[in-house]
Amino acid sequence: MVQYVACRAAAPDAFYKNFNLVKMMSRHVAIMGATGAVGSEFLRILEQRDFQMDSLKLLASSRSKGKVLKFRQQDLIVEELCDASFEGVDLVLASAGGSFSKQYAKIIVDAGAVMVDNTSAFRMDPSTPLVVPEVNPEEIANHNGIIANPNCSTIIMNVPVWPLHKVNPIKRIVVSTYQAASGAGAAAMTELEVGAKAFLAGEDFTPQVLPHPAAFNVFNHNSAVGENGYNEEEMKMVLETRKIFGAPDIQVAATCVRVPVMRAHSESINLQFTNPITEAEVREILADAPGIKIVDDRANSYFPMPLDASDKDEILVGRIRSDISQPDGCGIELFVSGDQIRKGAALNAVQIAELL
Ligand code: A2P
Repeated sequence: MVQYVACRAAAPDAFYKNFNLVKMMSRHVAIMGATGAVGSEFLRILEQRDFQMDSLKLLASSRSKGKVLKFRQQDLIVEELCDASFEGVDLVLASAGGSFSKQYAKIIVDAGAVMVDNTSAFRMDPSTPLVVPEVNPEEIANHNGIIANPNCSTIIMNVPVWPLHKVNPIKRIVVSTYQAASGAGAAAMTELEVGAKAFLAGEDFTPQVLPHPAAFNVFNHNSAVGENGYNEEEMKMVLETRKIFGAPDIQVAATCVRVPVMRAHSESINLQFTNPITEAEVREILADAPGIKIVDDRANSYFPMPLDASDKDEILVGRIRSDISQPDGCGIELFVSGDQIRKGAALNAVQIAELL
């Protein structure tokens, strides 16, 4: 209140600005899907980054109602998601699934809250910003109550590719992913663990979450395959990259598969630039870029690995080399690993919330 009176006396404009600031500072946050793989990571990240808020509400299905989760050494009780869940809430971190984001979007916005949506529900909606803070943070200002968090494979590719694209526009990206079970949710992670134990014990195992046994196996990403032969995950990498980069002409061809890894995605990325670019230039650009750690030790064959990327904020980037199939010097190859649950999902969303 002291701030309120002082600002008002100084100048009306400053007062309103500061009043909004005071209003924003009393921040009530809700996590939709708080018991899931990404939801529980939200709790860890909000705590680790000391995110400023006055209250935190945990929302999940009726199955989890009454469950107790720890946050900042306090016991928080999970509530069942319903229409009334968002009264008095300022910020919603949504990761319960696209159908729930769609169902509750209007209720959330009408309640005066902003939803940072981790699902694909609004990503390609022209009026919804799709944001990777290292790439297009300025887009956040254009929100109408919803800000979309991109697909995990898209984020993990975009963070290292964007700083290169800025310097020397990229014409074409060919990417192959090696995607962890976590992208299919907490139940898929459990299924990988249980399936691996069953496989080693020589027991029969029928997967319930993923379409094929994940342990000791590699298969086409579990999203639907469209008429053009690409699965939905692959098309997300194409369309979302164009939107995030503001580059409708960039060509992207993706192949997305699941591998028996718990929580970090890897990607082999082949780039075709407009102008020649050297390995040394790429290293120099990436060394200064945010959200990246270069891991590129040829002598010891030490490069990005999902186990090293797990639980890390940075995308690990290595195998940096000139593409010998592009003799004009315009081609570069990279191999990257990034934690799907953190930078691929929860961390990116919390970074957006921080910028808000
Ligand atoms: P619950 O644990 O109660 O099922 P993941 O992506 O790891 O599969 O997590 C999905 C999240 O979405 C979980 O927190 C899950 O809660 C939540 N969820 C699933 N179904 C519903 C529902 N009908 N209402 C609210 N939350 C739901």
